[in-house]
Amino acid sequence: MSQKTVTLNDPATGKNLEFPVREGTLGPDVIDIKSLYGETGAFTYDPGFTSTASCKSSITYIDGDKGVLLYRGYPIEQLAEKSSFLEVSYLLQYGELPTKEELESYQTSITKHNMVNQALKNFFNGFHYDAHPMAMLTAVVGSLSAFYHDSIDINDPESRELCAHRIVAKMPTIAAAAFKHMIGEPFVYPKSNLSYAGNFLNMLFSRPTEPYEINPVAEKALDQLLILHADHEQNASTSTVRLAGSTGTNPFAAIAAGCAALWGPAHGGANEAVLNMLEEIGTVENVPKFIAKAKDKNDPFRLMGFGHRVYKNYDPRATIIRKTCHEVLTELGMSNDPQLELAMRLEEIALKDDYFVERKLYPNVDFYSGIIYRALGIPTEFFTVLFAIGRAPGWVAQWMEMITDPEQRIGRPRQLYVGAPQRDYVPLDQRG
Ligand code: CMC
Repeated sequence: MSQKTVTLNDPATGKNLEFPVREGTLGPDVIDIKSLYGETGAFTYDPGFTSTASCKSSITYIDGDKGVLLYRGYPIEQLAEKSSFLEVSYLLQYGELPTKEELESYQTSITKHNMVNQALKNFFNGFHYDAHPMAMLTAVVGSLSAFYHDSIDINDPESRELCAHRIVAKMPTIAAAAFKHMIGEPFVYPKSNLSYAGNFLNMLFSRPTEPYEINPVAEKALDQLLILHADHEQNASTSTVRLAGSTGTNPFAAIAAGCAALWGPAHGGANEAVLNMLEEIGTVENVPKFIAKAKDKNDPFRLMGFGHRVYKNYDPRATIIRKTCHEVLTELGMSNDPQLELAMRLEEIALKDDYFVERKLYPNVDFYSGIIYRALGIPTEFFTVLFAIGRAPGWVAQWMEMITDPEQRIGRPRQLYVGAPQRDYVPLDQRG
């Protein structure tokens, strides 16, 4: 079969230029324009990268029109129902589902690395009690590179693997330390006999003064939420990890950059923003007023947890979370939760409104997750930290794929310059 190409007429020279079209396993083809600048002296312009594939990847596939999400080819619905977070983490990193032995060995490695250096805990003393936990997480994850020098040689496969395990293992420990610092309680050490989610809940909620029993409903729901957040192809934080990593910086630094990008309300910060928005709306009677605000172009207010760059259909993760949300609230005896009622009413009204229908704005992963987190006793400002723990295996897998890709080069976009043309410096006393 002959190679597909796209022909572009270069107005500067009148010449026809051919660009190869590369086909993936699924999804849109890409026009390979690597040689465009060399051949024409022109760049492409695509703010927000709406038409740009920044890399090739075999980790995650999304069909935004059909609402499909696959990790390494496996549908998210099947993984959410049948798998566990650590199995998914293995799948993302190694490309295949593990055998029983491989999973056991991976779980052992993760639990072996779940402690943090004792000195690293002192970092938290430098933060004020009301520091945002994402600020603490970002800073402390970045500081891991100051402690684990033996795993920052990006050219050594063993070192990369060790670092990948350390990140997945230590994220909950750092996150829980941030939480305990926030509420002024002593840090709780990880327990290796507990599941990943169970250990995290124990580090968050147990106290030295009283016994703590992990609620299996909370443990299962948290594990599922982590699975649903584990990867999402080239989203803003993952692209940040790849871009930072492309410079050869160490992986802890690259993942810290990812945490910073995740924090924004247009991305992972939306789960916190949804709950704040529901608080602000207050009662079902106020829903139409807030829908009107979201539609008003002179008002910066947006319906948080609604809309997605890629999904132009119901986010498949939101479908699963919505169901889990009902189950968790029922099992915890909170089925009459007024915020769930409010969220459902908001969704119902928005999905019938022309503004949202025309723009294909549906609830996304962040719309219902916060209601579950809150039911588990987690404070609103901590929600994005949970997203970060879930996303860590995805960041790590994408970073590893990038580092080992022979086509990988430093990420260095260009620009359309619209500033002043060259001009001469005017001494201060001669400026009018
Ligand atoms: N409420 C009201 N209007 C919206 C919303 C919203 N949530 N989202 C998009 N629109 C409108 C937007 O004003 C624009 O209208 P028009 O065409 O008239 O100018 C149109 O829909 C397209 O929006 P856009 O901003 O060009 O779309 P985008 O792909 O650049 O942005 C988004 C995607 C997720 C940033 C955006 O939908 C948004 O801000 N949503 C709220 C924040 C949110 O829930 N973020 C979580 C995303 S999912 C998890 C994650 O990635 O972390």
